[in-house]
Amino acid sequence: MEKLIINGNKRLCGEVTISGAKNAAVAILPAALLIDGECTIENVPHISDINMYIEILRSLGAKINWIDTNTLTIDSRNIEYSDSTIELTRKFRASYYLIGALLSRLGSAHVGLPGGCNLGDRPIDQHIKGFEALGAEVVVKDGNIYAKSKKLIGTNVYMDIVSVGATINVMLSAVLANGTTTIENAAKEPHIVDVANFLNTMGANIKGAGTDIIKIKGVKKLHGDTTYSVVPDQIEAGTFMLAAMATKGDITIKNCISKHLESVSAKIIEMGGIIEDYNDSVRVICNKRPKKANIKTLPYPGFPTDLQPQIGVVLSLAEGTSIVNESIWDSRFQYTYELNKMGANITPQGKTAIFEGVEKLSAAPIAATDLRAGAALLIAACAAEGTSELSNLQHIDRGYENIEEKFRNLGADIRRVTI
Ligand code: EPU
Repeated sequence: MEKLIINGNKRLCGEVTISGAKNAAVAILPAALLIDGECTIENVPHISDINMYIEILRSLGAKINWIDTNTLTIDSRNIEYSDSTIELTRKFRASYYLIGALLSRLGSAHVGLPGGCNLGDRPIDQHIKGFEALGAEVVVKDGNIYAKSKKLIGTNVYMDIVSVGATINVMLSAVLANGTTTIENAAKEPHIVDVANFLNTMGANIKGAGTDIIKIKGVKKLHGDTTYSVVPDQIEAGTFMLAAMATKGDITIKNCISKHLESVSAKIIEMGGIIEDYNDSVRVICNKRPKKANIKTLPYPGFPTDLQPQIGVVLSLAEGTSIVNESIWDSRFQYTYELNKMGANITPQGKTAIFEGVEKLSAAPIAATDLRAGAALLIAACAAEGTSELSNLQHIDRGYENIEEKFRNLGADIRRVTI
């Protein structure tokens, strides 16, 4: 087992460069299955979720090569279903994108019900509703999803819930369908725009991504021989912005799109931080104890649920009482129990938590309960007095590239040990 040993009480200062977006890349890799050819994808983060996707695509016959640290080529000319794929798909949540991609490319898909972070109930009824509307037959049985269709036909799909995954999945299934599909009440996250841009670069006809109505005109095939670069990770950028706030630091976050982070910048300003916005980089300076703020997580452009634990660390150290309302996931306050071990005063009550700000946190043995909780606890340990030990690193490694190195370059004192 590995742990991070973190000597805290550090002001994080300096520059950090953001990697490609995990949640875009885990959709773009399966989207490459739609291409009858080879494509090159740049700015792919080196994280375990991507390694997992590569293993899955290889099990289907795709040829994948890393040509430098963050660039890979995918050749999907000879794709075939394989039994070894199913067990792999159970291991992580984003494998649900294989259903849309394989339905589109092979006319059938068999995927193990997705695992992933433990954030409470994670239904995929809206994905299934979309596939069925396009004419697929979908059966959920014994922890497996079977979907098949002779030919998918474009149609209108109204999403009852704003869902990132369902929006992308229906987009994947509609790209090669006959006719036009309209997704209404679509999610608008930057990674949805990124997946649409990737598919359009390869010859798809998708309009409206980034708004709540997306129109996908089916095309006969997607071509390869094209290069695409994954959008910078909005959540990684937000994580470092909030690390500056929690440690009273001064961090310049490079290779990010500040427009994607407006809800976070607004809260940082409300808490007394200073933002310098340079469009493709953001500097966050915090000179004094942050002030309280209330947060409600919402789909984009609202405050992202994936930054709720990280801002929770700032609020646990803020002056005054803050209320956080989590409207996306049922179990996203597990990290508060870990933070309380460090001296925070947080009372979670269902989907709301009350943060009574304390002046300082102190070191404790803590465990990442999910990916973003892990990032939040790492920030907390950098701010806290004393030496903390952070375990369950597999959650963090799923989604953050070179996280220790990036924190270390900002002045954190961290080492990874195997015990
Ligand atoms: N929902 C349904 N039915 C569905 C789909 C979703 O009821 O068919 C509900 C969910 O239970 C949830 C809400 O709708 O309450 C939103 O879920 P969404 O489908 O948007 O989430 P997701 O696609 O499964 C992605 C990210 C998550 C991120 C959410 C919300 C990926 C691979 N995952 O999940 O990222 O929290 O969107 O923004 O893109 C993370 O990166 O740490 C992470 C958990």
